[in-house]
Amino acid sequence: MATKIGIDAGGTLTKIAYWDEKMELHLLSFLSSNFQAVKDWIDSNHSLASICLTGGRAEQLKKYLISQKDIPYIVEFDATMAGVKHQLKQQNIHCEKAIIANIGTGTSIHLMNENSHSRLGGTGIGGGTFIGLGQVLTGLSSYEELISLSKIGNRSSIDILVSDIYESNKLPINGSLTASNFGGVALKTAEKRSEADYLSGIQGIIGEVVASLCIQAADAYHVNSIIYIGSTLENNNLLKEIIRSYTQLKDKEPIFLGKNGYSGAIGALLESN
Ligand SMILES: Nc1ncnc2c1ncn2[C@@H]1O[C@H](COP(=O)(O)OP(=O)(O)OP(=O)(O)O)[C@@H](O)[C@H]1O
Ligand SMILES: [Mg+2]
Repeated sequence: MATKIGIDAGGTLTKIAYWDEKMELHLLSFLSSNFQAVKDWIDSNHSLASICLTGGRAEQLKKYLISQKDIPYIVEFDATMAGVKHQLKQQNIHCEKAIIANIGTGTSIHLMNENSHSRLGGTGIGGGTFIGLGQVLTGLSSYEELISLSKIGNRSSIDILVSDIYESNKLPINGSLTASNFGGVALKTAEKRSEADYLSGIQGIIGEVVASLCIQAADAYHVNSIIYIGSTLENNNLLKEIIRSYTQLKDKEPIFLGKNGYSGAIGALLESN
């Protein structure tokens, strides 16, 4: 039985964080296309708990929870920031200034200072891109199937590296950088490619676009650490590795938080009373 509940109703997933009577933290998620399941979960065991909502689809979810009058709402970016700070503390990570990339359905990029935060920008390249493009290229729609297939893929025939172009010429930049994501499909015509290769190529686009934007933001704001969050990283070591290596290559420190997708829900939970 929950006493307090924080809910982050996102474009794809609705994340829930709650404390039980022993003040132990529990986390779970539902598809945002199934708000009825969220309502059923609350009604079945937790109807007495105080709730705080956040996320872009909070208003839509509120309509489902009509029995719960006047549910408080906290702005998504405020909730996310509060959640990130709580998670950093829990993991004993000391970080007061960082770029934060929330890789959700799309990606939002923020600057976190000790006592303030601001949104710097974002990109439509995110977790929705993986599911959407993945479905076009493989016909699969299950997230779990897409993720596990992407893990066995190989990007070498999909992408063009700087070293593929320069070959034995003197390299002006690191040869292992991607010169063109998916450019190999057009230029490496003799090579065979599998669906798994395409999927790992999509992960490459997402990881490299997001990391590149964050690195530029970190340079502009003189920040060394980049915190990557969002459910797109959940059970997705391939994406984490792409992001980690790109970020480190540019001498920035990548930070991943356990329970990547739950910062907003945890932040809303901290605000519930
Ligand atoms: N069980 C799942 N079903 C569907 N997508 C999943 C699942 N688990 C992880 N994902 C990935 O997580 C992404 C959604 O991440 P997240 O929950 O952080 O975004 P969101 O909050 O719903 O969206 P936004 O913040 O952009 O409104 C999906 O696009 C997908 O790539
Ligand atoms: Mg979100």
